[in-house]
Amino acid sequence: MSNDNNGSGTGFTLNDNRSGKSYDLPVMQGSTGPDVIDVRTLYAETDCFTYDPGFTSTGSCQSKITYIDGDNGVLLYRGYPIDALAEQSDHMETSYLLLYGELPTKEQKQKFEHDITYHTMLHEQINYFYRGFRRDAHPMAVMCGVVGALSAFYHDSTDITDPKHRIVASYRLIAKMPTIAAMAYKFHVGQPFMYPRNDLRYAENFLYMMFGTPCETYRVDPIVARAMDRILILHADHEQNASTSTVRLAGSSGANPFACISAGIASLWGPAHGGANEAVLNMLEEIGTPERIPEFIEKAKDKSDPFRLMGFGHRVYKNFDPRAQVMRRTCHEVLDSLGVRDEPLLEIAMELERIALEDDYFIEKKLYPNVDFYSGIIFRAIGIPTSMFTVLFAVARTVGWVAQWNEMIEDPSQKIGRPRQLYTGDTLRDFVPLHKRK
Ligand code: SDX
Repeated sequence: MSNDNNGSGTGFTLNDNRSGKSYDLPVMQGSTGPDVIDVRTLYAETDCFTYDPGFTSTGSCQSKITYIDGDNGVLLYRGYPIDALAEQSDHMETSYLLLYGELPTKEQKQKFEHDITYHTMLHEQINYFYRGFRRDAHPMAVMCGVVGALSAFYHDSTDITDPKHRIVASYRLIAKMPTIAAMAYKFHVGQPFMYPRNDLRYAENFLYMMFGTPCETYRVDPIVARAMDRILILHADHEQNASTSTVRLAGSSGANPFACISAGIASLWGPAHGGANEAVLNMLEEIGTPERIPEFIEKAKDKSDPFRLMGFGHRVYKNFDPRAQVMRRTCHEVLDSLGVRDEPLLEIAMELERIALEDDYFIEKKLYPNVDFYSGIIFRAIGIPTSMFTVLFAVARTVGWVAQWNEMIEDPSQKIGRPRQLYTGDTLRDFVPLHKRK
């Protein structure tokens, strides 16, 4: 990574027309993608901050994990394209890739899968946490609470300065998220918890814990397991999105990894982010019939109406979300293989996609279906309740969060994240005693 004016003085010069001074700002180049203007000395030199609410033009870190080319619909995990991984890899192999930077050898993959498998069980006391929630609590609320509480159980992996602690905590989080998620579902529906099985692979084990009961042998449908595994791959990481940035910011203070991931889960819950998959299904059900689609398209275009077309649009993808394309194919495969021919929501989704992609507003604003648009339909087809959709997203994204958290901790230039502001409030004024206030 070159960290100067490319050696040819081709950085940026900032001219302050108020003082007549000018400042040279170096440009940093990555291995691909946009260059960055290094403004780390800007405040010291100019007494000015940059201003970028929502960070639309701001790079928060250097990273080697995931790269998105929003104009060309490209998503790379450690350089490998997402569609190749979705078609040819599996979630455990992809998790190893995100964590360690290379695809595992056969032996490395077997050891990684074994080590993750043998961390899937929870401390037995954690079972009692669930009893404190109402049965109708949203599962994401349960996930925030239980994952945050892990730091009360696994003290032997909370020293973030110890690489061994960091990797054990990372394995524990990746391994235990499906168990915690399935338990949240079982508690919600009033069924007994199912303990993880060491003879099942990651996605199969999750489905077993979700849908198995002590009353009979549960056979995981291989088609459903393959679809779930592919969905986990597609959701695993995505550069510095809101929840990943939350994990990094929380981790920058030295907070333990369990607390950081709990913060990430809370951020993911929002309907503008990971909560969109649940919101998409609720929207499709509200639309109800293809005939009502134009009414909702108009609502989405109406500036006075807060309604947005859930599952459409993205901060980075301004062409198409490559994950949505894989998800769309998977959606048809799963529905066909399960013999779900007349899924009305799929019909509405496909008609909504067709109409939106032909509408000038959506074309002009570059609003395309994102990863959340089709995932809910698949989840519903395999029996996942709507309230669990974002929980599945959190299960998948955990490996991305811990990979990014480790990268942040290991970054020698890492500092505590502490943005500044443009202050627009009252300037200094004298206190007014109560008896003098009008
Ligand atoms: C995820 O960041 C990530 O990488 C996230 C994610 C990941 O893997 O981590 O990809 C996962 O969060 C996917 C996004 C899921 N969210 C939704 O589907 C919710 C609906 N989408 C919108 O809320 C919105 O598109 C965002 C939040 C996704 C992106 O918002 P931006 O980049 O801040 O864009 P914006 O809100 O500034 O919108 C630009 C314009 C606005 O109009 P103007 O003010 O310019 O006139 O487009 C409009 C918006 O009103 N617009 C929409 C719209 N999305 C944007 N109008 C109608 N329907 C929509 N869905």
